[in-house]
Amino acid sequence: MSLVDAARLVRENAYAPYSNFQVGAAIRSASGVVYTGVNVENAAYPEGTCAEAGAIAAMVAAGETKLVEVAVIAGSPLPVSPCGGCRQKLAEFGASDVPVTMATTGGTVEETTLGALLPGAFSNDYLGEG
Ligand code: THU
Repeated sequence: MSLVDAARLVRENAYAPYSNFQVGAAIRSASGVVYTGVNVENAAYPEGTCAEAGAIAAMVAAGETKLVEVAVIAGSPLPVSPCGGCRQKLAEFGASDVPVTMATTGGTVEETTLGALLPGAFSNDYLGEG
């Protein structure tokens, strides 16, 4: 199954009763395993979490910290673009050349990279003494 199809499948489980905007994400780790996530909303709106965050949490919980490919899908008119916070979260675990596939349930697909989504990302390279 392709990474986009994994994202498409898991999207069915998204919990998005407030926005009605269901998102599925799938990431392939360095070991080749695919981890998936969905957006999980909350009646206290800011407590909702994005699909990408769920997939990352699943990967880290399984003991992996490197991702090599990302796919995100939603029922949107345009291929869904990871939000700013998710770009930062993805950049924590993926190099700038990691391919990101953004898709719609209607079949439109756009390819980009983590580096193109978040140029100049803040990283742990910046932490520490000056
Ligand atoms: N959402 C994601 O899950 N990922 C994104 O990259 C964009 C937005 C979710 C958050 C919220 O549950 C819904 O989509 C509408 O913003």
